Amino acid sequence: MIRELGSLNSLSQAKNIIFIGPPGVGKTHLAVAFGVIAARARRGVKFFVAEELLSELILAEVSRRLPQLSSSLSRIDLLIIDELGYGSFSKEASGLFFKLISKRYEKTSTIITSNKPFEEWGEIFNDDVVAAAILDRLLHHCYPFLIQGKSYRLKELMGNKKV
Ligand SMILES: Nc1ncnc2c1ncn2[C@@H]1O[C@H](COP(=O)(O)OP(=O)(O)OP(=O)(O)O)[C@@H](O)[C@H]1O
Ligand SMILES: [Mg+2]
Repeated sequence: MIRELGSLNSLSQAKNIIFIGPPGVGKTHLAVAFGVIAARARRGVKFFVAEELLSELILAEVSRRLPQLSSSLSRIDLLIIDELGYGSFSKEASGLFFKLISKRYEKTSTIITSNKPFEEWGEIFNDDVVAAAILDRLLHHCYPFLIQGKSYRLKELMGNKKV
């Protein structure tokens, strides 16, 4: 499935990709690899750590630039949102995130990486209803990858110790 993603069909079909798994299993690695393939094919790609994206959205709302930012973010072919779930968001921030996902829904592709299983996304957004609405849109046309296994970081560390 991962190899199939390299064909970029998911981008043409505005499908999303979600990588869920514990720390160090390669979620960011895969998201960035896909971003590089898309950029080489001259698609528009943007990468954000989730907390930075939410801060930008809130800042834009406060300074009344939200319509411009949200329309430019909704037009990007591939938006990568990394590390969703390492912090939680206020209800206001969650509402802004929901609007962005709604705008991109069925038009453009989004990749999300998270350490939290879907059942726990209510905690990320501090609102079960908003989390369900976000997930409903993201998962409708989506390749979800649940990655298990040991951290490559720990494997590397153990490997080095043996040397
Ligand atoms: N398939 C792989 N083979 C070898 N090394 C890998 C592979 N995938 C990832 N790595 C390496 O393992 C390390 C951890 O990967 P990565 O940062 O993608 O993890 P992550 O799942 O995003 O973790 P976190 O949840 O902590 O952000 C990185 O140095 C990465 O280059
Ligand atoms: Mg990561």
